[in-house]
Amino acid sequence: MKSLAAFASTAVLALSATAFSTAVYALDVEAAKGLAEQNNCMQCHSLRKDKDGPSFMKTAEKYKGKAGAVDEVIKHMTLGKDVKLADGTSEKHKIAKTMPANDKAQLKNLAEYVLSIQPK
Ligand code: HEC
Repeated sequence: MKSLAAFASTAVLALSATAFSTAVYALDVEAAKGLAEQNNCMQCHSLRKDKDGPSFMKTAEKYKGKAGAVDEVIKHMTLGKDVKLADGTSEKHKIAKTMPANDKAQLKNLAEYVLSIQPK
């Protein structure tokens, strides 16, 4: 009985792995939201409404179907380029901090999250 249960859960795992195989990897929405919160991204961004920065939905639209979209967004979050705020001043864009520093997987997950936001 025990081994049957073990088999069943393995089968479920295998099934969910198949379900996600169309995506390159499984997006961890909660982790992305957490990282965005920690970095105060949402001070200037919202999912579907423009604030100082474009909504994530707009960014997703902008990069839709483009090769290298994830890398572009990661660059944007890590290079600190000059950006213009609504009040006309400019400042260096926030550099996303991760623990450990510069964790590619976390940055990628956050970029994928931004790019996943669809109109409701
Ligand atoms: C102080 C305000 C501010 C904060 C904080 C901020 N951003 Fe931005 N962000 C902007 C502005 C302004 C732009 C528009 C830049 C432009 O169009 O040149 C922007 C643009 C972007 C874009 C669009 C890039 C593109 O190529 O179109 C993404 C994605 C983005 N920010 C993600 C983030 C993430 C993730 C964080 C948190 C790590 C963050 N931002 C924190 C102001 C901010």
